[in-house]
Amino acid sequence: GRRADIPPEQHADGLDPATTGSEDTALRKESSLKAPKVLEALAASGLRAIRYALEVDGIGEVIALDNNEVAIESCKRNIYHNGILASSKVVPHLADARIYMLTHPKEFDVVDLDPYGSPAAFLDSAVQCVADGGILMCSATDMAVLAGGNAEVCFSKYGSYPVRGKYRHEMALRILLACMEDKRNIPLPNFCPTVPQECSECGGKFVMGGPIWSDPIHDRDWATSILSNIRATSGLYEAYAKISAILTSVSEELPNAPLFVSLHSICATLKCTNPTMVMFHSAIRNAGYQISGSHADPLALKTDAPMSVIWDIMRCWVKLHPVKSQPENLPGSRILSQEPQLQTS
Ligand SMILES: C[S@@+](CC[C@H](N)C(=O)[O-])C[C@H]1O[C@@H](n2cnc3c(N)ncnc32)[C@H](O)[C@@H]1O
Repeated sequence: GRRADIPPEQHADGLDPATTGSEDTALRKESSLKAPKVLEALAASGLRAIRYALEVDGIGEVIALDNNEVAIESCKRNIYHNGILASSKVVPHLADARIYMLTHPKEFDVVDLDPYGSPAAFLDSAVQCVADGGILMCSATDMAVLAGGNAEVCFSKYGSYPVRGKYRHEMALRILLACMEDKRNIPLPNFCPTVPQECSECGGKFVMGGPIWSDPIHDRDWATSILSNIRATSGLYEAYAKISAILTSVSEELPNAPLFVSLHSICATLKCTNPTMVMFHSAIRNAGYQISGSHADPLALKTDAPMSVIWDIMRCWVKLHPVKSQPENLPGSRILSQEPQLQTS
């Protein structure tokens, strides 16, 4: 399964290494059309690298790295067992992923990072070896840390403080994206907007978290096109119902509303009954704002409405559905003690 064993005509990029001169130059000019080159930086037995080679049409060379000799030996055997296509495309390599990635700048169109636990130690080098316009794919199985289980560990690994709100899983993703972005750019001084110490609605102290990635986390067009593809071939997927539900929810999510509020949490704060989701959505829309659900939580509300509008809608709701009297110092009592500026119907 070593690359040296592969006849030239079977090389993934279609280039004969012996080619020289003008032919070589002509082929190189076509490099913008070349098959994408993939790096599976933490490959273990090579399972993914082999699947890329066998299952992705038009894929180029796939480098499978691991720093564990036993893993690389099993990777070589697996490449061999998967036949000529796997052998012609997948190149196993024993190396430390960080050193390899740092010494191959902008060389890969696709970089796949699948570490045990946190990818933080690999991000610095990974962003260096992705070609311009390429894709960095990364898994992080330390969700407990990213989602606020240990804020200090999260800060030391990712440079960001998590907050344990209902939105913590979305925040975890945004922390990881912010960390990748930070590794890609030269760090600039961070000018945060000034916020008051206390919330003007409930008088409580703000909990500070972040920094997070606040741009969209989905490409809507991509989600919609994948959705129509899988609808056309729904019989092929055992998990069709689940995939289709997630992609539908993703494609309907408001792209420019980072994180979300939970209707249950809002009602728990006020100790009131819940309005239906439909009523709440229409109240937000009537107030001139946008609203959607979130694929992460069926009770989530993503909206560009400020919290003052959300609380005003709830103040109007409570006028129609009164709550029992509460001690004055509770956050809910303080919120309800203010008259709504906005009138909802
Ligand atoms: C979770 S496994 C990868 C599983 C694999 N991607 C799959 O889909 O089957 C992580 C692998 O990373 C390897 N690894 C850990 N640190 C590494 C490093 N610095 N350089 C290269 N490989 C490393 C480990 O030996 C292990 O095989």
